[in-house]
Amino acid sequence: MAYYAVITGSLRTNSVNKAVARYVEKASSRKLKHASIDLPLFNGDLEENGDPEAVQQFKDLLAGAEAIIIITPEYSHSIPGVLKNALDWAGSMSVRNVLESKKILLMGASPMAQGTAFSQAHLRQVLQACGAWVLPQPELFIGAAPKKLSDDGELNDEATLSRIDKALQAFDNWVQE
Ligand code: FNR
Repeated sequence: MAYYAVITGSLRTNSVNKAVARYVEKASSRKLKHASIDLPLFNGDLEENGDPEAVQQFKDLLAGAEAIIIITPEYSHSIPGVLKNALDWAGSMSVRNVLESKKILLMGASPMAQGTAFSQAHLRQVLQACGAWVLPQPELFIGAAPKKLSDDGELNDEATLSRIDKALQAFDNWVQE
């Protein structure tokens, strides 16, 4: 059955980006499968000897996906290292690039006003190098994110939920083209 893979760029239990991912799971018209980025550090020697088991599972999940949604924090105005590491495995230039020609939707949440705009700009550049296609618009930057969560940590800001709904709809349309 067709599915979208979802990558969340934070390993933190109480991650605001994981809260966004939970809403995306509720709101998406598609079946979603979470692709864990808790992977060994990329090392060309490991790759030469065959991808480690966790990497194989990660790449298989992406390879089988109709499309991919990446929901990520911003660290030091860029992509979290753990996400870049996962993309280095996925977009391998020597073994199997599972990002080639994949359609990707980006979103991200942060406490700051820019709401991951710098991180997503770098992510677009990385994904372009991997041969993936990123939905140009709408861009989804969720600023002041902790204020948009309920007491039990769920995203509940109506304007943000509506922006996510619209982005998911635009993405579905684009994937079907
Ligand atoms: C951050 N944070 C951050 N936020 C931001 O908007 N721009 C930035 O450049 C940074 N830089 C940064 C570096 C490092 C090392 C950390 C740990 C954090 C704050 C970050 O947005 C905040 O911790 C989020 O809550 C992280 O996302 P999750 O884990 O809640 O999804």
